Amino acid sequence: MNPDRPTPTPPAPAHNDLDQRQLVRLLQDFHQLRRQREQAYEALARAHHVTLSKLALAAEYKDGDTGIHIVRIGALSAYLARLLGKPEAWCRDIELAAPMHDIGKIGIPDSILKKPGGLTAQEREIMQTHPLIGAQILGNTDVPVLAMAAEIALGHHERWDGTGYPRGLAGDAIPESARIVAVIDFIDALTMDRCYRKALSDAETLTMVQATRGSHFDPAIVDAAVAAFPRLAALRDAINRGEAGTQHPARPQAGDLPH
Ligand SMILES: [Fe+2]
Ligand SMILES: [Fe+2]
Repeated sequence: MNPDRPTPTPPAPAHNDLDQRQLVRLLQDFHQLRRQREQAYEALARAHHVTLSKLALAAEYKDGDTGIHIVRIGALSAYLARLLGKPEAWCRDIELAAPMHDIGKIGIPDSILKKPGGLTAQEREIMQTHPLIGAQILGNTDVPVLAMAAEIALGHHERWDGTGYPRGLAGDAIPESARIVAVIDFIDALTMDRCYRKALSDAETLTMVQATRGSHFDPAIVDAAVAAFPRLAALRDAINRGEAGTQHPARPQAGDLPH
């Protein structure tokens, strides 16, 4: 210590105590504000999620479905997207967007939508406008999840070989989100009871999916779905039992990954 320098006088204890108390209060206020902000964000995210699910349910309701199909479509599409190495935010978006793939059916008359038996050529033409109607409902927005929902709605009946509708796109020209949902929707439709047939077994479904590889569907996506089929089926069954859903997205296991 320099003997020439006077020893600095410590601040008055009362003043120091006050600073300390103010600091503690400031920190408490800061933590409370952060908690409130997190709670508000969670509430908003949940409201956003629920609103999108209800919108999807509106279309399925008209179609006479219980709504479980769209939960499966969301969860299984996200599962497959993760297998294909898509970024996590993209996978979360597809989980919310995929359930709205058939929302355009809102615009199809019940006389066609609910007609038992086959449709006439003219009725089929009207039915095949549902992707365009869906894209009109969901599109023209800068909200990423709705933009993805619009491209899925528009593209989920396109075929890899270019023979689908409404635009006859082929291969990579079809948005990847729509290619994923198309495969999952096909698998899910086969494993559901229909008025004209019973649900196919998992083995029969696998054979059907493999038969469409490269014609109807993207071969890489079919390969990923086939490789992970047991886990996709297990996730489907868990959703049907009410044990899993969109709140807890399933994560692929190492063994699921296609080679
Ligand atoms: Fe459709
Ligand atoms: Fe569907």
